[in-house]
Amino acid sequence: MKAIKDTLQMQKIAFKHLKDGDKIGLVPTMGALHNGHVSLIEKSIKNDDITIVSIFVNPIQFGSDEDYLKYPRHLKKDLEICKKNHVDYVFMPSVNNMFSQAYKTFVEVEVLQSMMCGAFRPVYFRGVATVVLKLFNISCADRAYFGMKDFQQLKIIEKMTKDLNFRTKIVPCPIVREKSGLALSSRNSYLSDEEKLLSLNISKILKEAAKEFKNKTLNVVEKKAVNKLKKIPNSRIDYAEIVSVKDLSPADKNTKKAVFAVAVWIGKTRLIDNTKMTK
Ligand code: PAJ
Repeated sequence: MKAIKDTLQMQKIAFKHLKDGDKIGLVPTMGALHNGHVSLIEKSIKNDDITIVSIFVNPIQFGSDEDYLKYPRHLKKDLEICKKNHVDYVFMPSVNNMFSQAYKTFVEVEVLQSMMCGAFRPVYFRGVATVVLKLFNISCADRAYFGMKDFQQLKIIEKMTKDLNFRTKIVPCPIVREKSGLALSSRNSYLSDEEKLLSLNISKILKEAAKEFKNKTLNVVEKKAVNKLKKIPNSRIDYAEIVSVKDLSPADKNTKKAVFAVAVWIGKTRLIDNTKMTK
């Protein structure tokens, strides 16, 4: 396994593999790797000749009042995880190497970027789309792996890839959860033991809602779930919405495939989770 810090060097290596006919898989991450990330890595190792994992805490997707500085960074452990999982290259550029002082170009995926998480984190998705586009260009990826845990992010990347004619194929990967149901997230490390117990309610409430969706009306299911979420002590809801899988528009009685997506604060930690719902 090689660790590469320079964007140009990474691109040169990727070009060489491309020329040799290798299929390149990219797993973009911000590090603090857990088994959710590992599930993406395993898929790429299985599908592709070369697996590149990027580890970059991307400053442009954090608002000025957000947790960029305190975001967990465990590079040594991350490198061990990548090595153990047979990753070929870890791409870990510095902020200056990715975004020089003179940097001026940003990608916006209109409509999708403004709803749900975007309504609460205004610069978030433009930061995500921009860095992911750069990572696609640097890695020459044939396939890129994204978790359904960040469902809105996945839809935005799919839309950007289609709209901008990228050759990279987006591979959606299922949410990895603890036995308790809690969706794995690098931010779970912010939770105290007590907060972690409270946060288990989120996946439980989503699961119950998915069951009810089969035979109850959408409004009833959504209202009931929101009431239960509101009752979690020490919590605050950013949003809890049942939306269409296709374009994240609000689901209605004709929607057959929906996603119930929520962002809930437990104390000072913002958690997102979602579940697919089918009639
Ligand atoms: P990060 O939060 O590190 O997540 C990297 C990838 O891992 C994302 O595609 C995310 O959906 C996936 N992932 C996280 N938790 C998961 C879980 N429990 N199960 C399955 N997949 C999971 O998402 C980002 O980084 C950044 O926004 C990034 C795309 C790297 C751009 O900076």
